[in-house]
Amino acid sequence: MSAAYPREIRSYARRERPLGDAARAARERLWGRFAIADHEWPRIGEGCRDIVLDVGFGDGESLLTLAAADTARDYVGVEVYRAGLVKALRAIEQAGLTNVRVIEADVHDVFRLIPDQRIAVIQVFFPDPWPKTRHHKRRLVQGPFLREAARILRPGGCCIWPRTGRLMRTRCWRRPRRSRPWS
Ligand SMILES: C[S@@+](CC[C@H](N)C(=O)[O-])C[C@H]1O[C@@H](n2cnc3c(N)ncnc32)[C@H](O)[C@@H]1O
Repeated sequence: MSAAYPREIRSYARRERPLGDAARAARERLWGRFAIADHEWPRIGEGCRDIVLDVGFGDGESLLTLAAADTARDYVGVEVYRAGLVKALRAIEQAGLTNVRVIEADVHDVFRLIPDQRIAVIQVFFPDPWPKTRHHKRRLVQGPFLREAARILRPGGCCIWPRTGRLMRTRCWRRPRRSRPWS
């Protein structure tokens, strides 16, 4: 596990309204079934099934679509946006999916508790609402993120991050702890 993972990147802005009564009730009802609590994060990926980690899944549309089409792998979504998380919880229940779980947290905190070489794929779809140069320091996918991704990916694992208006970037690691990434 990472000993000292810096907590310097604030890649999101918290401007959310509090959840309404119906959303709060749904969150409470579905949390135990579909969410992974922080004390369970160190156990992610300890089984033999491949884990796909979807970072910043928004309202969960792509996360659920991919998980439904790819039932041989388990999907874990991480998101800080509470309303999106509730929407995803409801959709997982409605779709009857058994291979998706969600985490409500900053992904940097989750990374810190995942042991080495546990994850098959890390996907980050359109992570950056930070187009201005002065905001580049807030971008999620940069040095510290990629270093932690390399640590928790299994040999041969990939990190993919499509960005609006740009080519999709992919980094794969043959031997995550020792090699430099190749694409
Ligand atoms: C532009 S949205 C993309 C949403 C979704 N992936 C999609 O393609 O529709 C970026 C998402 O990343 C989430 N996010 C940003 N930084 C994050 C972090 N450090 N940990 C977890 N989620 C984060 C934001 O809350 C937001 O929902």
